Amino acid sequence: MKYQLLEIDPLFTFNTGNMAEIEKILLKYPSSFPQSAVLPLLDIAQRQNSGWLCKSALDEVAKILHMPFMQVYEIATFYSMYNLKPTGKYLLQFCRTTPCWLKGADDVELACKKHLGVGMDETTQDGMFTLKQVECLGACVHAPVVQINDDYYENLNKDSVVELLENLRRGDVTGTR
Ligand code: FES
Repeated sequence: MKYQLLEIDPLFTFNTGNMAEIEKILLKYPSSFPQSAVLPLLDIAQRQNSGWLCKSALDEVAKILHMPFMQVYEIATFYSMYNLKPTGKYLLQFCRTTPCWLKGADDVELACKKHLGVGMDETTQDGMFTLKQVECLGACVHAPVVQINDDYYENLNKDSVVELLENLRRGDVTGTR
């Protein structure tokens, strides 16, 4: 997947509640290695920033942890759990690793693309759904799996996934975020 840091760069600072959370997280690591907390801090920044990391948020994490900006950019672009552009209300992450693939992940993905009229790494015009491919989500026994925001949906097929999309659209099911 190709990642790109965006030009759109809203000014980001952690809110008071998240700063308090960060203080607690930092206490878990040796004070001489604050950079060990980079992954949870990026996660907090992403959650505060409506599900994605703007450059300003990455820089803020780097400043707090006394890390070179580039090192934080490298980490944020390596892990698929960080989004470097805005996503829809529901971020659908399709597992494409072998067990899910053998159990019909391609059909599930294709059904979603057709139903929503968008491709991978795209967001529907109404801003509801973004599609993304990821590697194993660690729930292979229930393949094929799609993660929607923080929730897992398992044992899907081309019909049940479309039903799920419609339930999400109607608000009958809500993805945790
Ligand atoms: S291969 Fe899909 S969850 Fe492991």
